[in-house]
Formats: sequence, C-alpha cells, structure tokens
Amino acid sequence: MTVAPLVLLGATGSIGTQTLEVADNLDLDVAILAARRPSGELAGLARRYPDAEVIVAGGSSGERDELAGSIGRKVGHGSDAVLAAAGARDRLVVNAIVGAAGLRATVTALEAGNRVALANKESLVAGGAVVVSALATHGGELIPVDSEHSALYQCLAGEPADSVSRLVLTASGGPFRGRARETLHEVTPEEALRHPIWDMGPRITIDSATMFNKGLEIIEAHHLFGTNYELIDVVIHPQSILHSAVEFVDGSWKGHLGFPDMRIPIQYALTAPARGPAPGSQFRLPGVELTFEEPDRDTFGAIDIAYAAGRAGGSAPAVMNAADEIAVEGFLQGRLGFLGITDVVRRTLDEVEWREIETVDDVLAADSEARSVAAGLIAGVC
Ligand SMILES: NC(=O)c1ccc[n+]([C@@H]2O[C@H](COP(=O)([O-])OP(=O)(O)OC[C@H]3O[C@@H](n4cnc5c(N)ncnc54)[C@H](OP(=O)(O)O)[C@@H]3O)[C@@H](O)[C@H]2O)c1
Repeated sequence: MTVAPLVLLGATGSIGTQTLEVADNLDLDVAILAARRPSGELAGLARRYPDAEVIVAGGSSGERDELAGSIGRKVGHGSDAVLAAAGARDRLVVNAIVGAAGLRATVTALEAGNRVALANKESLVAGGAVVVSALATHGGELIPVDSEHSALYQCLAGEPADSVSRLVLTASGGPFRGRARETLHEVTPEEALRHPIWDMGPRITIDSATMFNKGLEIIEAHHLFGTNYELIDVVIHPQSILHSAVEFVDGSWKGHLGFPDMRIPIQYALTAPARGPAPGSQFRLPGVELTFEEPDRDTFGAIDIAYAAGRAGGSAPAVMNAADEIAVEGFLQGRLGFLGITDVVRRTLDEVEWREIETVDDVLAADSEARSVAAGLIAGVC
C-alpha cells in the first residue's frame, strides 16, 4: 500500500489528532501540519513530527514568533500558505478544518489532482457544485471521512448507479433524543456538548444535538454520490454501530458495521481501496443490540430545513451552513438559546436572497452575507 505524504489541515482538532494516530500506526509520512492558531497543541505536534512543515492560518506575529522559537523552526503563515500546502502535487490532503473555511483548500487540492480525505463536510454542503466540478475536471480523488459517508462509499463500490433505490443515513440522535421540544428551551452548552457516543469538536457536537449535523450530511451525500434528495433517508440508530446502509432495487441491503471509532473511516480514506490493520480492538457481534426509530422532525427541525435548502440548491446550503456556524457560536457563548439555533438558521434562509453558485467566490459571498444576517438576528434577541 503506497500513501502519498500527508498534508494535514486542522491538525490540532479531533479528526486531526486521530489522523496522526492512524498515520503513526501505518508509518506514514506527515509532510505538513496546519491549524488556525499558533497554539500549545500545535507546538506539541510540531515537536512530535520534527520533519513536518508547520503552518498557521491566523494568530498575531508575536504568537507565531513564539511558536517558531519554541519549536526551533520556521512557521508558515496565512490562508495562502494553507492553500499552497493543499495544492502541492502528489500529496494526500486530509481536510479536517472545521467550517466553510475549509472549502478553498478542498478545491485547491482537487485542482492539483490530489487525493482529498474529506472530513470538512462543509466543503460539499456550501460549495457542492464547485467541488464536484473540480473533481470531475482535474483527476483528483475525494474520499469521505465522515463515518456515514465512508460507509455509503464502501457499500456503493462496484454497484451500478441504477441499482440503488435508497441511501439510509444513520444518526445517533444526539444527547436530546426522545426529549420533547418544550424541555429544550433551557438546555446549556455543557449538556449539549455531552454526546452519548462520539468525542468530537464543539461545532459538530452541537450540530449533533440540533440534528443540523445530519442535515449537513444529507447534502454531503447528495453531492458525493449524485443521489436525489428523495432517495436519501435518515433513521435514528442510538448505538452508532450501523454507520449507514444502501437499499438496492432488488430488495437487497448493504450496511457497514463496526465500532464507532473515527480512526476506521479516517484510515480507509487514506488507504482505499486497500485496507490496513485495524486501528482499534476487534469488534464482535454477540451482545450487540441494534435499534432503529424515525427521527422526530418536529422537535428537530434541522432535518427538514436541510432537505429544503438542498432542494433549493444554489446559495441556500451555503447560507444554511454559515447561519448555523454563527448560531452555534452564539449558543456556546451564551448569547442564544438552544432552540434559537434552528430559528436563526430558518430566518437567515428567509432573509438572504437565493443566488446561483458557480465559483468559490460566489459561495463565500453568500456565506459572508448569511453570517452578518445571522449575527444581526442573534444580536436582536439578546
Ligand atoms: N470530530 C469528528 O469525530 C468528526 C466526524 C465526522 C466529521 N467531522 C468533520 O471534520 C471537521 C473537523 O471537525 P473536528 O471535530 O475535528 O473539529 P475541531 O476539533 O474543532 O478541529 C478543527 C480544526 O480546524 C482547524 N482550523 C479551523 N480553521 C482553520 C483554518 N482556517 N485553517 C486551518 N486550520 C483551521 C483548527 O485549528 P485550531 O486548533 O488552531 O483552532 C482545528 O485544528 C468538521 O467539518 C466536522 O464536521 C468531524
């Protein structure tokens, strides 16, 4: 199995650090470590990988100098440096940046013909058409890291498109599964950050509590697999053992099962179609219980909002994602209630005019407009 040197964008995050565990197990070459801030975590990683180039998108010049001094080497700086890393030839780019900030790196990496192991689902949600076109034009590869999409990718391998009747995305239901809407007014960020299964970054954890994460994943699946929204379903599966499934026209189903361990789909995105040794302990079926239920779409309005934004197309998914990023930040900072997240996204979609999307700049213009509308709505309720 040959894996190109890794460019790890978002190295300090939940996916970033798990990618490094996988890279260590497989003895892969880590060429670049990139993050947003010149943090202590990044300094620690830089020391662990003394041959890797270190890049930060932001931070003050004083903070960057301090990082460079503490690790004894140069620190690249700015979004152009991140893009240059993504666009270097013959690299495997792991995009584990959180938010729409990751879009340009995905497109740049694909334009260079690289394989992209894509954790940054926002690339496909906000800029799906642009990403798909870069993929089709430049000969790169896009392998999903999201466990559900990795599952679908593997179930769909070798299957003709017209044999598929439905994609079924599973969802754990998050920490508030089964709760009535009226009990969710007062939930705190601490409660919402306590995910029953996954230990993830703050934005995706809150998105799992509101179910916007599943909303983003519906749109992600549409672009990755070219599947109509009518053929993408969501089912609640609290154990997160079945990572997703495909129903075929002949009544057969294929599902992808295993421990809920993100190192498994991360590793597959690096090695596919080859498979390396399991990064965790052996999974055994005896004693495993699998249950399934319909999502409560009235309490968790995010699913229907996402279907509507996906079907509307154009700038609507980018607006939805940007409004959600701002609303999640407002909730975590105590400026917005939990149910306010969904309200702010819905109202931002109503207020921002729909536009055609052809380029990354079009996406980012819609994203920026939505951010300011959402911020205004949050300020209005404070
Ligand atoms: N965590 C999971 O289990 C999981 C599962 C499936 C999909 N995903 C997806 O994977 C992505 C990352 O999630 P996460 O949970 O790993 O997030 P996270 O823990 O919050 O980490 C985000 C990473 O992105 C970096 N970053 C943010 N803006 C950046 C920029 N402009 N340039 C370079 N680096 C930047 C951060 O750097 P700093 O540390 O310096 O801020 C950090 O390293 C998200 O799209 C999420 O939806 C995550």
